[in-house]
Amino acid sequence: MIIALTGTPGTGKTTVATLLKKKSYAVVELNRLAKEKGFVDGYDEERECSIIDVEKLQVYLKENLFKKNEKIILDGLLSHLVKNVDLVIILRCHPGELKKRLETKGWSERKISENVEAETLDVILCEAAETHDKSHLFEIDTTSKTPVEIAEIVDGIVNGRFNKGEYDIGMVDWSEEIRKG
Ligand SMILES: Nc1ncnc2c1ncn2[C@@H]1O[C@H](COP(=O)(O)OP(=O)(O)OP(=O)(O)O)[C@@H](O)[C@H]1O
Ligand SMILES: [Mg+2]
Repeated sequence: MIIALTGTPGTGKTTVATLLKKKSYAVVELNRLAKEKGFVDGYDEERECSIIDVEKLQVYLKENLFKKNEKIILDGLLSHLVKNVDLVIILRCHPGELKKRLETKGWSERKISENVEAETLDVILCEAAETHDKSHLFEIDTTSKTPVEIAEIVDGIVNGRFNKGEYDIGMVDWSEEIRKG
């Protein structure tokens, strides 16, 4: 089973994926894999990040991972663009809290505010909804949850242990933040 764990930078993908390793999940860090395998197409100066060839990544994953019979977490900002995964779990975070989390990364102010804005505008959710059927998509608001709680929720979604509708997409709404400007 392949689970894409996605979300704006700073929502806690890697933190949660690391905890899931202890629950017998295998974790593939997509950015690292893309760099190791040469699927990087250059550097986006504007966004201050590597440009990854998602098509090449997709082919590699299909040939190497999709056949495996284990629970595999794809950790990465681009994981929701990988087609044919079993589940897509989107981590969300209130823009104010996200800003604080991103400040720990030592990034430029511009890169931080660009990502806070992307979270406020549901950018990842929109991209995921364009790529996958809604029935495969789940959203977790991480704002006031600990990484351990979030890992437990992810494991619950994978194993069908949650109330219907509890982690449906569309429940997170940061639009109040847009009005604040
Ligand atoms: N649930 C949480 N509550 C509070 N802080 C958190 C939580 N999850 C992660 N953090 C903190 O937020 C920061 C970003 O977390 P992390 O690096 O896991 O995010 P990420 O989604 O993997 O980001 P990136 O896309 O840049 O790899 C870290 O300092 C981490 O300790
Ligand atoms: Mg990460």
